Amino acid sequence: MTWLQPPLRRGFLWLEGLLDRIFGPAWNPLYHLGALGFFYYWIVAVSGIYVYIFFDTGTTEAYRSVEYLTREQWYLGGVMRSLHRYASDGMMLMMGVHMLREFSLDRYRGKRWFTWVTGIPILWLVFACGITGYWLVWDKLAQYVALATTEWLDALPIFGEPVARNFLAPATLDDRFFTLLTFMHIVVPLILLLVLWIHLQRVSRPRINPARGLAIGTFAMMMALSFAHPAVSQGPADLATVPAIVGLDWFYLPAYPLLDIWSGGALWAFVGTLSLLVAALPWMPPMRPVAVAAVDLDNCNGCKRCADDCPFGAVTMQPRTDGQPFEHAAVVDASICVSCGICAGACPTSTPFRRGSDLVPGIDLPQRPLRELRAALEAAASGLQGRTRIIVFNCDHGGDLAMLRTGCRTAINVPCIAALPPSFLDYALSRNLADGVFITGCRDEACYHRFGIRWTQDRIAQRRDPYLRARVPRERIHIYWGGAADRRELLRELDGFAARLATLPAPAVPSRRPASAMRETAQESDVHA
Ligand code: HEM
Ligand code: SF4
Ligand code: SF4
Repeated sequence: MTWLQPPLRRGFLWLEGLLDRIFGPAWNPLYHLGALGFFYYWIVAVSGIYVYIFFDTGTTEAYRSVEYLTREQWYLGGVMRSLHRYASDGMMLMMGVHMLREFSLDRYRGKRWFTWVTGIPILWLVFACGITGYWLVWDKLAQYVALATTEWLDALPIFGEPVARNFLAPATLDDRFFTLLTFMHIVVPLILLLVLWIHLQRVSRPRINPARGLAIGTFAMMMALSFAHPAVSQGPADLATVPAIVGLDWFYLPAYPLLDIWSGGALWAFVGTLSLLVAALPWMPPMRPVAVAAVDLDNCNGCKRCADDCPFGAVTMQPRTDGQPFEHAAVVDASICVSCGICAGACPTSTPFRRGSDLVPGIDLPQRPLRELRAALEAAASGLQGRTRIIVFNCDHGGDLAMLRTGCRTAINVPCIAALPPSFLDYALSRNLADGVFITGCRDEACYHRFGIRWTQDRIAQRRDPYLRARVPRERIHIYWGGAADRRELLRELDGFAARLATLPAPAVPSRRPASAMRETAQESDVHA
């Protein structure tokens, strides 16, 4: 199914770029889809509680009580009903786009399968909430939904007698059924909340609240829609007639028209197969296995930075067993680690100032060790010439920057931009390997590994350990979040940076120090980081 990803990704990149220009990255709704889903859930919950206070369960009372809210109490009850409807639709929309975007970004395969697969029951539960909700109003649409759903349920061999029979005549439909439905309409959202909690078990610090401006903006839009186009019923249900034409909610009831052409069994087979297919996507094809982060106990002092920075909660601190004078050591859960390297970027022992044989950090990626990154940096720098030698550090998900390599520029890729320890910037500039360092990767707020951009900015601004040392000239560092996604802009930023570097006084060229002195420097920078 990965053939679908490139066109979908291109579409999302274009739309994200457009919304970035309109709202800015911090308020771009595409970067807050899961959080918006949660926000809509809470609007649905609060408005639902209000509607429930006035709701009467019963074949005639249900419709009447909802009509009372809509007509007599339109200024509050009617608005609450409309908010309940539109926030539910919003949740469905957000969920659909969120799912497509995660798929297009390839954030659902490999170790990330768990979050994807737990999304499938969420889909079912959200549909179940919507269907029972439409049913409760007991208008003509509810009658259609009731008949169609029960006929559909009757295709399953779980009910003794056909449930649909209850909806064929007034005599067989009783109030207790409404009480049961109301109960389900309350319990299913609670189960949904539980499954949402499970959904987020493998993402640390999940973003469950959208940016304030985005929340206020989308809430204001829903309020405006609630006044301009309030949710209304479609006339009382009448079991003596069969509803001929009803206005369907295409967010929640798109499968229902299929029941006119397919049997209930065929529709179950269709939605069941579709769900299984979507749940199996992470293995179609499976991701190529990559070695996970490995801890070197001799170099781990139990500082916990790797556990704090890991975006997937793959590192835990466990009591030590190796007799070292530290209480804890880092332990990586191989079933969760996605090999992003952010932990290595956070470890205080990941400093390139250490001698070649000694560059073994407390935690590192075996297939892309920091020792090799330092070697790559030194090799790339040795080929640079001119007064504006720039080293570009790019993340694997920021695209291919091979086109950048010229006599005075070179690009080095890291798995995630936060896999780059800040001491490497210090190393590149203080050892005069380059005149400037350019950092790029995914688009702002859209980091493939979730925290790469945030941690990098915080480390450079000295808000988060490991700090970039104060001695590093910040004017020789330039950050541009956009990578190859916005190639022309990237080149413009690079040219602008080079022009600024050309105006700076030439840095003092350090003399090479003997190896023994280098060992001292290593200890000094270990302590600092
Ligand atoms: C109302 C429904 C849903 C809500 C509220 C929701 C919420 C969230 C949130 C808050 C995150 C974490 C975002 C972050 O901080 O990086 C997330 C991640 C994710 N969700 Fe959902 N989600 C919903 C439905 C779904 C569905 C239906 C699927 C797919 C079948 C899905 C797949 C994923 C995936 C793959 C991730 C990314 C995990 C990663 O980065 O490794 N979600 N979701
Ligand atoms: S960051 Fe490094 S030293 Fe600190 S706990 Fe993790 S592996 Fe150990
Ligand atoms: S590489 Fe490190 S930071 Fe990334 S998931 Fe694995 S343990 Fe966490």
